[in-house]
Amino acid sequence: MSQELYLSGGQIVPVSQLEMERVSSGVTGLDEALGGGYVRGRSVLVAGGPGTGKSILSWHFLFDGVSKGETGILLSLDQDEHMIRADMRQLGWDVDSAVNTEALTILCGTLRVIPRETGFEYLVAFNHPLFQEQPLTMGRLSQMVLKRAAETDAKRIVVDGIGPLLELAGNSFEIRQLIYGFIRDLSSRDATVLLTHELRTIPGAVNDEMPFFIADGVIRLDMLYTSGDYVRTMRIVKMRGVSHLMRPIMFKITSHGIAAFPETRLPE
Ligand SMILES: Nc1ncnc2c1ncn2[C@@H]1O[C@H](COP(=O)(O)OP(=O)(O)O)[C@@H](O)[C@H]1O
Ligand SMILES: [Mg+2]
Repeated sequence: MSQELYLSGGQIVPVSQLEMERVSSGVTGLDEALGGGYVRGRSVLVAGGPGTGKSILSWHFLFDGVSKGETGILLSLDQDEHMIRADMRQLGWDVDSAVNTEALTILCGTLRVIPRETGFEYLVAFNHPLFQEQPLTMGRLSQMVLKRAAETDAKRIVVDGIGPLLELAGNSFEIRQLIYGFIRDLSSRDATVLLTHELRTIPGAVNDEMPFFIADGVIRLDMLYTSGDYVRTMRIVKMRGVSHLMRPIMFKITSHGIAAFPETRLPE
């Protein structure tokens, strides 16, 4: 039995006594490192530089759901739908039948910046029959996604690329309010929410650490240069209420998607 302790509501209780229902990430090695998967009904932020595997990791989560009869929604704010579908097919997922059977809804939006006298206004525009009313503010976007989640009883929701939402939200106080509200509304339906955020490659860029506080869990993806080659790593930075592996986990991306190796030690 686990001897690890966890502070819950002012009381210290063994981790083993906490009932945290888990939901598979769709990546076996990551589930092992998390002691069973993400926590159902909570949010996870996947952060990393470009090409580190954020989108593919989020697709594993969605298609694992599809295979278990758990409906999903993918809200993408940085890739168009044709490209997403082509990439998913390439990795072996039958995205077309998932969308046709409404097991998966894909919503792709682009950020529009409209100059105003007092500055700029940020809105999201969608090319989807569900979004007749255009363009949308953050509040309306959140309502529309929630409506779709209720219609399809979605249990897994991915927002791929929260950068544009941060733009939409404006200053940091608004960011807190809007994104918190969005996540809270989605997880109130007992849906598990996965967000991705692209970190800039410039070390110490102002925006880099900002969104970390908004999610219950954070996983950071990196590409490390070691022994003459780049190695992909994922690190569970935080996962509230969960006892998890701390060290970076090596992983690979192949034509079958992501395979993670929690037992393998990184080369020195
Ligand atoms: N079939 C494949 N085989 C090997 N690597 C692949 C394959 N498909 C994609 N990749 C790798 O995955 C990367 C893209 O992953 P993605 O999840 O889109 O990154 P991110 O969303 O973090 O920008 C590509 O740059 C490539 O290195
Ligand atoms: Mg991506």
